[in-house]
Amino acid sequence: MTTSTNSLTASLWGGRFSGEMDALMKKFQDSISFDIRMWSQDIRGSMAYARAINMAGIINDDEAATLQTGLQAIHDEFAAGKFEVKDGDEDIHTAVERRLKELVGDVGGKLHTGRSRNDQVATDTRFYCLEAIQVLKTNIQSVQSALVAQAEQHVSTLMPGYTHLQRGQPSTFGHWCMAYFWMLQRDMERLAECEARVAVLPLGSGALAGNPFAINRAALANDLGFREISQNSFDGVSDRDFVAELLFVGAMLGSHLSRLAEDLIIYATSEFGFVTFADAYSTGSSLMPQKKNPDAMELARGKVGRLTGNLVTLLMVMKGTPMTFNKDYQEDKEALFDTLDTLELLLPVCAGAIRTLRANADKMRAALDPSILSTDVAEYLVRKGVPFRDAHHASGRAVALAERNHTKINALTMADWKSISPHFDDDIADVFNFEQSVNSRDVTGGTSARSVREQIEKAQWLLVNGS
Ligand code: ARG
Repeated sequence: MTTSTNSLTASLWGGRFSGEMDALMKKFQDSISFDIRMWSQDIRGSMAYARAINMAGIINDDEAATLQTGLQAIHDEFAAGKFEVKDGDEDIHTAVERRLKELVGDVGGKLHTGRSRNDQVATDTRFYCLEAIQVLKTNIQSVQSALVAQAEQHVSTLMPGYTHLQRGQPSTFGHWCMAYFWMLQRDMERLAECEARVAVLPLGSGALAGNPFAINRAALANDLGFREISQNSFDGVSDRDFVAELLFVGAMLGSHLSRLAEDLIIYATSEFGFVTFADAYSTGSSLMPQKKNPDAMELARGKVGRLTGNLVTLLMVMKGTPMTFNKDYQEDKEALFDTLDTLELLLPVCAGAIRTLRANADKMRAALDPSILSTDVAEYLVRKGVPFRDAHHASGRAVALAERNHTKINALTMADWKSISPHFDDDIADVFNFEQSVNSRDVTGGTSARSVREQIEKAQWLLVNGS
């Protein structure tokens, strides 16, 4: 067979064609430039398929052994970086099959019996995703571990908690770290749920109508490490939901990391000074010598753009495509690979930046203004039997009075307090204690050192045992 030709007749599907494909059309439709990275999945999928058609009696044991040897040789060529892509190789499936025939001769032409590139590409892509998900899980967990390690150090490191980026109530840096742990834990859960739907084998769906040679699809699934087999051949070849789901997990994860990044960028400003990034995760300015820029976090904040874009790309590609396979679906891969590549760098960089950052406890503490204990003042009244709404109003009046007097709320005189409510007593002074405020929120999920430690213990269990 001719291998370095543009001739249509020599291609996999050339039987009914004559003449040449337009050069730009060829460039337009080829996917080898990006789907080549699925070489390992393609070859291992073919090895399993060869076993399946052997079991079904389509090829004999000798032929099966020949195919295995040939496929293994191609695997070795790829692994050694020696595989040569030739002109007619429009995608990874064509390239491997072409090479197989070169290596083992005509029997190579038997491998594709009952199989179509339609069920093959869907299988390869799922197989690729399954392996990528394992890497993703490890990388998410390393960010989670970095957060837990910081949280352990800072269970009692006081810091203002914000709403609307306005100081709200006292909290701790440890509690802040753990908030992001739980966000990422949901990403882990989503990934596990998505994985179950990725691990459904479409092989045996053929081009669209199923396999006529009674291959044992369940055995094939088992062979390839898939959990189930698809139940409808039309759906089997056209389903790309699993890619969309994985891209959504990526976009959501990116959104979480962008929030974490934004917090840390703010906290690293001279104005806040709550955290200092290690030099290893910072860059300088070519003009302003004093600058130390949080580029790692700015990129982490920015990457959500492409992660979300990739999801939207695929949703738009899938929309309105008719049953069953359509070439449109070839557009799934660049979006998928870009998301996986982005996360493969983004997650370890985030983990490193978090692990190595220094939390500046003194700066955090200095940002605690007594006014953020106003809620505690209201709660003080509630404990004396005042309805919360009235208590809230009274505390608000205390804040306003302090403002009018150009003083802090904790510097109001007993006469001032009494002018607001007869329920205020000398023990109001005890309310102005940040540690006590933080530790009074001792429910599960609260800011107390005990409840943050409880979170850390659960987190450590999850990191070891999974969700
Ligand atoms: N390169 C194609 C893809 O990525 C493979 C499937 C092609 N199938 C076909 N009937 N043309 O989707």
